[in-house]
Amino acid sequence: MTADLATVDLADPQTFLDVDLTALWQHLRAESPVHWNEPRGDQPGFWVVTRHADCVAAYKDNKRLTSERGNVLTTLLQGNDSASGKMLAVTDGARHREVRKLMLKSFSPRLLEAVAQQVRARTFSLLEEVIARGECDFATDVADHIPINTIGDLMDVPTADRPRLVDWNNRTLSRMSSADSEMDEWLARNEILLYFTDLADQRRRTPGDDVLSALANGLIDGEPLAEDEVVFNSYSLILGADESSRMSSIGAILALAENPEQWRRLKSGEVSIESATEEVLRWTTPAMHFGRRAVEDVELGGRTIRDGDIVTMWNSSANFDEDVFPDPTRFDLARTPNRHIAFGFGPHFCLGAFLGRAHVGSVLEGLRDLVAEIRVPGPGTRLYSNFVYGYSSLPVELVPEAR
Ligand code: HEM
Repeated sequence: MTADLATVDLADPQTFLDVDLTALWQHLRAESPVHWNEPRGDQPGFWVVTRHADCVAAYKDNKRLTSERGNVLTTLLQGNDSASGKMLAVTDGARHREVRKLMLKSFSPRLLEAVAQQVRARTFSLLEEVIARGECDFATDVADHIPINTIGDLMDVPTADRPRLVDWNNRTLSRMSSADSEMDEWLARNEILLYFTDLADQRRRTPGDDVLSALANGLIDGEPLAEDEVVFNSYSLILGADESSRMSSIGAILALAENPEQWRRLKSGEVSIESATEEVLRWTTPAMHFGRRAVEDVELGGRTIRDGDIVTMWNSSANFDEDVFPDPTRFDLARTPNRHIAFGFGPHFCLGAFLGRAHVGSVLEGLRDLVAEIRVPGPGTRLYSNFVYGYSSLPVELVPEAR
């Protein structure tokens, strides 16, 4: 039986553990691509957008569909985001363009190329370590250590502090289970904010050439950024960089273990790391949705979204839209073109897409060059989240390539 939105609650993280939504997404794309999800008790109703073309149209329209009152379901349902206007992802208009420009300066191709080399070296050395052991938890032994160190290097976060940041991130975004309290989530978020308040203060006194120094000392129209803008944007870099990249790397290994013919194509060099990376990003779609609030009436997919309505764009459906991806439920490392929207689209397109790709690409390259066979001996532990799809734990056995 196909799940339907009268019984499935997309706001409840447990839904994503209990229900396989593939058939529901397919049904909605075909029958009700811009669907009104009725209010539930105190929970307001919201629009569920499932087709690729409609998601892209919504992402592009940041004038009528704003991020400033939240950009994920949880904050949109609460009615606001405490970082609104202070953090890039929940800011629109001129301030968004200016702060984005300032941050992008620190992401120059020259700097990123050097960082990509470090990512590759770090990934290969982590893989060599776990291959020598024979078995590992790919999440905690490998994936957890890659993105945090990349963004840590870019922001010059002291190495000893990084494990604490990973732990806070985990507790902030995607709780491990329903037993973890919302208070814990709130406390973890505050820990990150306090941490960056202190570090930004140090960088104002002794600036370096890292991204945090750029934020702490950068000027827009001759004025420095407000302290909370510096702190919230640091927070968003750490969160954005860490969680999604980890989830796509872990998802990559699972997909390769489950699709041995694709693994052979990667091993033989028949498919490039670049195209394989894009397919892993589509297949895993770590950020399942993003959302907006309408600030005037908008026509979308033949429906009228009213001023004030909440709109959610489901990347995890759009990336499997049969109008854009032939045979979408086939994991095909050679898929070209691959117009996935795992990084969103338009004005808020992911600032770290290059790094996200570097993380996934380095894992694929490491597996191809160092590993003969991937085995997943037991089930992994999925994250408890209505936003991030992925695993907090995945047992893996890696058989080394004969030298
Ligand atoms: C925005 C996904 C890696 C930093 C976004 C958005 C998506 C996304 C879908 C759009 C949000 C929206 O429209 O509201 C991903 C995925 C990643 C990844 C799937 C890895 C596989 C990174 C990395 C960084 C980063 C490595 C940091 C270096 C950001 C920031 C924004 C953003 C700052 C906000 C941009 C803006 O509002 O202008 N990301 N991301 N992300 N991402 Fe990523």
